[in-house]
Amino acid sequence: MNWKRYTVTAALPYANGPKHIGHLAGAYLPADIYARYLRLNKRDVIFVCGSDEHGTAIPIQARKENTTPRAIIDHYHNLLKDNFSKLGISFDVYHRTSEPIHHETAQEFFKVMYDKGLFTEEISEQYYDNEAKAFLADRYIVGTCPNCGNENAYGDQCERCGKTLSPKELINPHSTLSGTQPVLKETKHWYMPLQNYEPWLKEWLLQGHKDDWKSNAYGQCKSWIDAGLQPRAMTRDLDWGIKVPLKDAEGKVLYVWFDAPIGYISATKQLFKEIEEGKQEFSYSQAHEAYKGAKADDWKLYWQNEETKLVHFIGKDNIVFHCIIFPAMLHAHGEFILPDNVPANEFVNLEGDKMSTSRRWSVEMYEYLEEFPGKPDELRYVLASILPETKDSEFTWKDYQTRINSELVGILGNFVNRVVVLTDKYFEGKVPPSKPSEELQAYITEQRDKIGTSIENYRLREALTELMNIARYGNKLLTEKEPWKTFKHSPEQTGVVLYDCLQIIANLAILCEPFLPFTSSKLFAMLNLNAANLLWGNAGRQNLLETGHKLGAAELLYQKIEDDVIQKQIDKLKNTLPVNNTPPTQNTKPVQPTEVSAPKAEITYDDFSKLDLRVGTILTAEKVEKADKLLKLSVDLGFETRTIVSGIAAFFKPEEIIGLQVSVVTNLAPKKIRGIESKGMILLAEDEIGSLVFISPKKGMKNGSIIR
Ligand code: 2FM
Ligand code: ZN
Repeated sequence: MNWKRYTVTAALPYANGPKHIGHLAGAYLPADIYARYLRLNKRDVIFVCGSDEHGTAIPIQARKENTTPRAIIDHYHNLLKDNFSKLGISFDVYHRTSEPIHHETAQEFFKVMYDKGLFTEEISEQYYDNEAKAFLADRYIVGTCPNCGNENAYGDQCERCGKTLSPKELINPHSTLSGTQPVLKETKHWYMPLQNYEPWLKEWLLQGHKDDWKSNAYGQCKSWIDAGLQPRAMTRDLDWGIKVPLKDAEGKVLYVWFDAPIGYISATKQLFKEIEEGKQEFSYSQAHEAYKGAKADDWKLYWQNEETKLVHFIGKDNIVFHCIIFPAMLHAHGEFILPDNVPANEFVNLEGDKMSTSRRWSVEMYEYLEEFPGKPDELRYVLASILPETKDSEFTWKDYQTRINSELVGILGNFVNRVVVLTDKYFEGKVPPSKPSEELQAYITEQRDKIGTSIENYRLREALTELMNIARYGNKLLTEKEPWKTFKHSPEQTGVVLYDCLQIIANLAILCEPFLPFTSSKLFAMLNLNAANLLWGNAGRQNLLETGHKLGAAELLYQKIEDDVIQKQIDKLKNTLPVNNTPPTQNTKPVQPTEVSAPKAEITYDDFSKLDLRVGTILTAEKVEKADKLLKLSVDLGFETRTIVSGIAAFFKPEEIIGLQVSVVTNLAPKKIRGIESKGMILLAEDEIGSLVFISPKKGMKNGSIIR
């Protein structure tokens, strides 16, 4: 099929935490390589993504951090957008699902399906919190696991034994909103009867994509379809999300997996709106000239025109949503094209174990950028070399070091450096006299086409190997011809070799761009090569660099990674293992999905200086009657002894904390808690599994010492 245009999407990341390099390798980097390659080929392509800002996880996180869902999504949206941009992920638009344009688009989509009669209404019993006056999402219900007795199992899963649960299976369930026991109450929801789409899915997916989809996506879908599809609720009882656009749907929002993929469509609408308004500047390649003068309505071409190829890059945990549910929605709606391919990647493990932000067994994108400034291509290279295209792969810091030192520095960097230095030395930094070599052109053209074919078939690791083979070829040429030896007796011979090597570098500057965009721009600058040459078809062309052309200033492409740098990363990983957690093994279960907290709003110096913080010693501690969480403490503050009620009973036995020195906020207005006047607050830190620890001063401080 001769596609007229391409819509490339990468899974919208949840804006409730940072994303790690496994996510990067799963969806964003492969999608970026593909999109950049298409642009270099002057194909008409848009590459869209954005933050997924709905779902139950975000309000839960906000409650935990004592902030608002809005603060959480704003913080992580900005963080992710910035991380992607610094890693060279070239989205044409990075949208967000909290935008009005997205709410409208998703509601309209739902309404079209509703008006066509494509939903069934079903009434079911769900847990309701009478005090908080809200239906409870599974994660808001905690109780005892029927399998292992863990008292803190969630309504959807026990994180201790890993068992999948439903809220009704929990023993002694209680609501995390109010702590009370929830009651079962009837609620109505709109379901998509997926079973009705089975015949269509069998034809479109199981027959139509048997040969061109990777076996992971195809296989998962086949097992789902073979097992028989079930109706799936497309609405939820929640106050965070997109309101269900129906009269009798008060307090209900769209299921996050209904709205999120529609985010790709809204992102496209936003992009073309900005183009029409002249706000969008395309900076990635000449391919974007096609968009000049485009109109807001042109988004439709990328979603509703049969000559458009739609490709979703995702991680394997998203397969069912992108291969079954979203296509069924698109098909049901009726006006949309379907994905031509869904190149799903497996997972990248880290040092032998599953990567996980909550267990702190991860390398977050922001951490990498902070600790390896100016090295985005190094990470892109290593990840592209180990992309989990067919099975889970392994990131280790040692391997990162080896790949950079022996491949990027040793092969590519070394080749470029030697050629540039020799050209400087023998030919004053100008391209020496010679004629284009047909053999070299044929080789480069062949490599170019191999790389192109691999990329178009989503075999990016293979493509990268072929790219590096060009640098290997160059090194071999240098080693065999030894131009530094021939100069004395035959400068022409030296010139011929360097001429060829410079052409190879110019070709590498073009062909490496999808993988190593920062390296590509450095090479263009070093060669003083006109940016207009940055087109795939120019690789293998005669005379990218003419005899006499003056090169630009030389710079080092990459630096060796030293052992101590790598050791620091390994130590850091080992040291940040969560408390109560064993070193990772293949079978370690995640402890709890806690993410790094969003910072609170800025306060002034004066705000802070109003606090009176002191060292105090706990003299007595006792349980408060009928309150499981509270302890009544008396605390010696040097100038007086105070009564303080603190919500720490779940974490400390009274007798264990007597005599402990703690940090106290002493000038909080007194507050009656369960009839006891509490005068102050003890400072505590919450660790990653939700346990509390005291912020204790150095042993033996005088009570009443000021903390500042
Ligand atoms: O798994 C995830 O991180 C989801 N937020 C992916 C959504 S992809 C798309 F549907 F928006
Ligand atoms: Zn359990």
